[in-house]
Amino acid sequence: MMVSCRAMICPACDGTGWKPSERDGVRRVERCDCWRDQVTARLFADARIPRRYQHCDFSNFRDYGESLKRAKARATKLAESFPAVDKGLFLEGPPGVGKTHLAVAVLRQVVVSSGAHALFYDTRDLLRVIRSTYDPVVRTTELEVLRPVMKADFLVLDDLGAEKTSEWVEETLNLIVNTRYNERRTTVFTSNYPDIPDETDTNSLLCRIGFRMRSRLHEMCDFLELRGADFRFAPANATDKELLALADMARDRGARGVGAVRPTPARAQLRDQQADLKWPGGRAGT
Ligand SMILES: Nc1ncnc2c1ncn2[C@@H]1O[C@H](COP(=O)(O)OP(=O)(O)OP(=O)(O)O)[C@@H](O)[C@H]1O
Ligand SMILES: [Mg+2]
Ligand SMILES: [Zn+2]
Repeated sequence: MMVSCRAMICPACDGTGWKPSERDGVRRVERCDCWRDQVTARLFADARIPRRYQHCDFSNFRDYGESLKRAKARATKLAESFPAVDKGLFLEGPPGVGKTHLAVAVLRQVVVSSGAHALFYDTRDLLRVIRSTYDPVVRTTELEVLRPVMKADFLVLDDLGAEKTSEWVEETLNLIVNTRYNERRTTVFTSNYPDIPDETDTNSLLCRIGFRMRSRLHEMCDFLELRGADFRFAPANATDKELLALADMARDRGARGVGAVRPTPARAQLRDQQADLKWPGGRAGT
């Protein structure tokens, strides 16, 4: 349907972004709602939320189990208190339990309620972008790539640990995380890797990201475990009871080592090999 240009002009402010108001008998102008909506829309567009997660907010997050209830309550508190928050979040759990969904829900709310400059990055994508401007001879990366990530008021770093650690990866992630920590900027991380202090376990967070990064994360985040069903395999309109039953089945299978719910060393290795394949000529600086 054709919409005429005239019909799109806001009637409250005639398209100027300012509307007349009156307080204590004095006539003034104030920002129109349409201007606020435009600013919010731009902030969302700049936030890089993947299309698959654009619909995610707190209202459509199902908290059918104890750990999900706890995580949702803590995430809601962070979103409502932002920017007056001390710590970000580290959301850990098996695939499909809703970690990325919850992280995006927080991001949405901080953008809407406080006009924050927020950014979403899959950790592996971020490293790929940084790598594309990395000069291994002088060991520098263009600041244009790093700056928005370090400066964003609120950052989601999704799937931490998915990238096999190396000196270069550690250096780069430590730089980002340290800078944000020093500037007291809030970050929400998600990860499949449990925080067990065992560096010999190739499935531990420690093994994937290194001592320094793990230690920093504990200072800057509250750690939350999410346990539940892999929602990707849940039938549409599943009841809470059905989701709990699926979660129990997944846990039992994991305990028996059948179709483990975590990335097994073999799976993690395969993911690393696949990532290597995307890097003709090897990884810069590794
Ligand atoms: N508790 C939930 N309530 C509503 N939707 C959910 C929930 N958990 C997962 N989903 C939906 O299922 C899909 C997968 O969830 P999501 O990507 O957040 O899982 P994840 O824990 O980040 O998994 P992965 O470890 O594989 O990254 C998304 O479409 C998400 O909206
Ligand atoms: Mg995820
Ligand atoms: Zn207007």
